[in-house]
Amino acid sequence: MNQTFSDAKILKKAKMLRENNLYPWFRAIENTVGSRVSVSGKEQIMIGSNNYLGFTHHPEVQEAAIKAIEKFGTGCTGSRFLNGNLSLHEELEEKLADYTGFESAVLFSTGMQSNLGALAALCGPRDCMIYDSENHASLIDASRLAMGPTFKFKHNDLESLEDQLQSSVNRFKRVIVVADGVFSMTGSICPVPQVRELCQKYGAELYIDDAHGIGVMGDKGRGTVHHFNETENVDYVMGTFSKSFASIGGFVVGTKEAMDYVRHTARSFMFSASMPPSAVATVSKCLEIVMRDDSIHEQLWKNVQFMQEGFAQLGFYTYDSKTPIIPIFMGDDIKSLKVTNFLESKGIFATPVISPAVPKGEALIRTSYMPSHTTEDLTKVLEVFAEAKTLFNIPTNN
Ligand SMILES: Cc1ncc(COP(=O)(O)O)c(C=O)c1O
Repeated sequence: MNQTFSDAKILKKAKMLRENNLYPWFRAIENTVGSRVSVSGKEQIMIGSNNYLGFTHHPEVQEAAIKAIEKFGTGCTGSRFLNGNLSLHEELEEKLADYTGFESAVLFSTGMQSNLGALAALCGPRDCMIYDSENHASLIDASRLAMGPTFKFKHNDLESLEDQLQSSVNRFKRVIVVADGVFSMTGSICPVPQVRELCQKYGAELYIDDAHGIGVMGDKGRGTVHHFNETENVDYVMGTFSKSFASIGGFVVGTKEAMDYVRHTARSFMFSASMPPSAVATVSKCLEIVMRDDSIHEQLWKNVQFMQEGFAQLGFYTYDSKTPIIPIFMGDDIKSLKVTNFLESKGIFATPVISPAVPKGEALIRTSYMPSHTTEDLTKVLEVFAEAKTLFNIPTNN
């Protein structure tokens, strides 16, 4: 059969963007040092990463990863269930349970696998999930894998959530409300206390995907649930190591019994090789450092405040973000791509977010900040955005 992909809508779009020199994806990074990267031989200030604590280049973290390779080799060559369970994995699970304030933790090999595995295991044929309309793609895919149905509520809208709870509570055995703690594109925060209250009112369980909250929000970065002082009442928290914890992998925490169930039923846990030793040791060291060194978070929040104030003074619409993710509203998709190119020409690496990742007309440039950004870096970013504002007629608050 002579089947081609050239008619696919996405490939037509990619072709159009390449022809117009606006293609923004798969930029090859040749080198990284702190918050600087090199692309096509040119150094750029990185404001498009999730390396919120800058740990990828911390000397102690790098040394821990190297030592783990020396002791355990480069990979586990099997699932935790059978031959790939190292003492390192079990130690990290204990540390994470302690850090997040839950009874037990299960490690997965990626954050995506954590959501797919845990939610498909927890949501059986007689259960249902109710999820926020702006939840991450991995949660949407988890809802496709789960045996029970999924219902959506409007983003951070408590009335809409209550409507869904009311109509589900008597029809299903277990109802699980699922939401991001910090939403990845706009940096908006789930109102955990109010969501938890509704869950309690209707006997539902609450699962928070804290990929962007863990390591950042709350005391010592213990997460969004800690930020709101709600650990006692949330049933499950998921986190990833591909952002603040400078590696790859993920975890879910909950009660001992629930996590034991996940360990024996989550297919992405049982049928996939375990996190490599260097990744486990990286995360363990990151946790050790955040527990003893508050200066990393102090510098992170100082930088975030500097940028929030800077963008506000310039009049940009930033979705009132209170996290290290500061989105800059652009509106039009093509404008967002042109501004990304302009930033790159001025030595700034930022990421555009266009439809369908956001609704049409709501394109943005997602920026994010780390402790390693210097005041000079941040001042330069603001100056270049100020220039772009006039050149590209970027919509503002004023
Ligand atoms: C909210 C959210 N959940 C889950 C994931 C998946 O994590 P990972 O990259 O570790 O697979 C991401 C990553 O982009 C995310 O932003």
